[in-house]
Amino acid sequence: MSDSEQLKSRFRELYGQEARVYRAPGRVNLIGEHTDYNEGFVFPAAINLFTWVAIAPRSDLQVHVRSENLQKTAEFKLSSESGNANRDWSSYISGVALALEQNGFELKGADLLVRGDVPLGGGLSSSAALEVAVGFALLANSDLTVDCRELAQLCQKAENDCVGMRCGIMDQLASACCRKEHALLLDCRSLEYRTFKLPPNLRLVICNSMVKRELAASAYNTRRAECEEGVRILARRFPEVRALRDATMNQLEACQAELPQNVYKRCRHVITENQRVLEAAEALEHNRLEDLRRAMAESHSSLRDDYEVSSDELDVLVEIASRVKGVHGARMTGAGFGGCTINLVESEAVDEFRNEISAEYRRRTKLNPDIYVCNAADGVKRAD
Ligand code: GLA
Repeated sequence: MSDSEQLKSRFRELYGQEARVYRAPGRVNLIGEHTDYNEGFVFPAAINLFTWVAIAPRSDLQVHVRSENLQKTAEFKLSSESGNANRDWSSYISGVALALEQNGFELKGADLLVRGDVPLGGGLSSSAALEVAVGFALLANSDLTVDCRELAQLCQKAENDCVGMRCGIMDQLASACCRKEHALLLDCRSLEYRTFKLPPNLRLVICNSMVKRELAASAYNTRRAECEEGVRILARRFPEVRALRDATMNQLEACQAELPQNVYKRCRHVITENQRVLEAAEALEHNRLEDLRRAMAESHSSLRDDYEVSSDELDVLVEIASRVKGVHGARMTGAGFGGCTINLVESEAVDEFRNEISAEYRRRTKLNPDIYVCNAADGVKRAD
């Protein structure tokens, strides 16, 4: 039985009716980290690990949700002032419903069953996949459609408002708009994007360090605040700088004396990273894999030394990977503070890569990494 048939059959047992099934992917970012909330560029691909939602309409305004992964149930009422007071897994769902309603979408009540393959807390955007899948399903269930960019923005708003993580737009937009076999170059200011075909012989191999730093959300918010401070200082001399996206290295150097050291380093990362994203996309387009590899390596160093969001474990994973044959790029991916690395690996080299990484990482850290060998997938869509 396929994933969607299984979910439909489980839905029938639970709610006694037929469901439609939708799925939204997790994402991996090839390059362009911590640039999205600075209105810069990112280059993610959706991956074939999904969150699945089975849904059927109700005749009242209730939403009932069952999570297969958590084995928990929640319910809330649409169009209610109080919304969902619970601050738990179900806030993602009620938050998305609220953001859609506040934007004028008239939703029908619904029964939902949710199941996810995207590892939780691994930096592969399990939360964005949940938000986007639920948002798309709630709209379709109410006979409504929306542009993928708008869906991404509403899901981001839900995460910002209801979950308290001041994330940028990358994860939700990747989960909503990406295309199979392609990476997506996104301008986070205009939300214009272009897709780039990935070489068919490369796999997206993701290594989970199995370590996650406590308080990652507050460290993330601190980085954002440091970037905002950088913009305030730069704009005193260069009023055209509205976001770090607008700043150049020359302008940054000119203001170095006025910038606290940590703020200077954060800005340097963002300014150079934006440049690397554009270089990497061009390299991919012209099949210059050596340039792509170099851009990814420099991105990792910059995240480690200037943005200070890597970890010893992520550094070890990248170091090992860069010595393995058939690897065309390795770096930490996502917000950092633990989580995963992305490795572009030739199909024929994947087994060897897996063996080497597992053995050497275990030897050096005493940890067993999870390794996911992925392909680039389509953004959210109906799946039955
Ligand atoms: C998290 C956020 C994204 C982005 C990345 C870092 O995944 O949700 O918006 O800022 O971190 O690039």
